[in-house]
Amino acid sequence: MPSDVIFEPLKFRNLTIKNRVFRSNISGRFDNYDGSGNQARINWEVKFARGGVGAIVSSFVPVHLRGRIVPNYAMIDHDSRIPFWRAVGRAVHDHDCKFILQLSHAGRQRDINGVEYPHGLSSTDTPDPIHGFTCERMTAQQIQDVVQQFAEGARRAREAGLDGVELHGANGYLITQFLSSAINDRKDEYGGSLENRARFVVEVVKAIRRRVGRDFHLQMKISATEYNDALTPFNLGPSGNTVQDSIQVCCWLVDAGVDAIHVSSGSFFPHPRNPAGSDLPVEDLSKSYDTMISSGERTFLNFLRFRGISSDLVRRAWNQAAGDPDKIEGLNRPDARAIKAAVDVPVICTGGFQTASVIREAITSGDCDAVSIARSLVANNDLVKLFAQGLDRAEKPCTYCNKCLVNVVENPLGCYDETRFASREDMIRQVMSVFDPPPFA
Ligand SMILES: Cc1cc2nc3c(=O)[nH]c(=O)nc-3n(C[C@H](O)[C@H](O)[C@H](O)COP(=O)(O)O)c2cc1C
Ligand code: SF4
Repeated sequence: MPSDVIFEPLKFRNLTIKNRVFRSNISGRFDNYDGSGNQARINWEVKFARGGVGAIVSSFVPVHLRGRIVPNYAMIDHDSRIPFWRAVGRAVHDHDCKFILQLSHAGRQRDINGVEYPHGLSSTDTPDPIHGFTCERMTAQQIQDVVQQFAEGARRAREAGLDGVELHGANGYLITQFLSSAINDRKDEYGGSLENRARFVVEVVKAIRRRVGRDFHLQMKISATEYNDALTPFNLGPSGNTVQDSIQVCCWLVDAGVDAIHVSSGSFFPHPRNPAGSDLPVEDLSKSYDTMISSGERTFLNFLRFRGISSDLVRRAWNQAAGDPDKIEGLNRPDARAIKAAVDVPVICTGGFQTASVIREAITSGDCDAVSIARSLVANNDLVKLFAQGLDRAEKPCTYCNKCLVNVVENPLGCYDETRFASREDMIRQVMSVFDPPPFA
């Protein structure tokens, strides 16, 4: 039998992964309010390691308390967090799977502020246009402090025995807020030209390299095309960075010491194209969005919109921006291909993957070296094992309904598409399985 490219190992400069499927960044609010981790997070990651992925890229892990999106996400802001991440790494390694931690800072894009810091930090002092999350424009000293926080996060991940780190430079969080021509309105050396807007992330990469050396895996997740103007009725401003801008940024990052690029899209999160859905589930959204009402200047108005007669308007605008629901699988492939042609490090592509033949073709055609999958693995944790058995797709594939996405701000993360289960009870049992085994078992 000819060898299957999906199961060929992938070599980075400092790391080898056993196959070409990464679990993309995704997690729920499983941890403790203070940013310490717990057993549910370990259970969550083990589900995917057991299911056969070559590596797990963690969800958003804040490098500082002020940089979190919501409370109850484990952080890496202090040395006291190291033992927890060591436990996560060991549990995943037991299943011959690597673990890459996503070093993150939310900037102004914070769904639930928490009690400690009412306002986020950002490249700008303009609130985010969708929810109205307010923020403070960072001073030069604050920029240097955050650069060091990323470097310390990488050092802690290394000390925890993890296999590498990823910079969350995508989807509208702090690094995007500097990179984006649609968001960054600074007049100093961190704003204006592309080179100036990239200065912050390049400084982060250099600081990490100074702290951990050259032999620790470091990758960057980037929104190759920002589509900042995707929701036309909301008047969100200009379109933002193009793939050509991002190619240049990736070249600078590789020169500064990045070992791989993870290609995503969108200048905010969620974005109609990320994660691209078959239909915006406004009903579920209206049930969980109340959790965010006190977080932004526009959140209460949005809540009324999602509940009232304008919910259909929102839904239609979102679906129109999302594009053809039949083209969700591999929708970032053209951007991944363009970046891969310009850099000499491996490229990982995210976005809708769940069919073995499509993944194979994405790799063999030269669009990318590996794919990362989030929702389809939530729907079928053992998808890679199914591929190894010769299946092209899971029997009950992910429907891209995005109910997992809109529930996660309030409820445990899991698949919420009832049509995929024998009953609602069955679905809830699956969602709650992340708490098994319990912490004191
Ligand atoms: C509920 C949810 C949470 C996510 N959290 C993160 C995150 O913490 N960091 C990140 O880079 N991407 C995050 N993503 C984006 C995914 O990692 C992935 O890139 C995106 O969903 C497209 O892949 P998919 O079609 O396989 O889901 C999240 C997506 C979902 C649905
Ligand atoms: S709720 Fe389930 S089917 Fe719907 S997008 Fe999420 S994982 Fe896929």
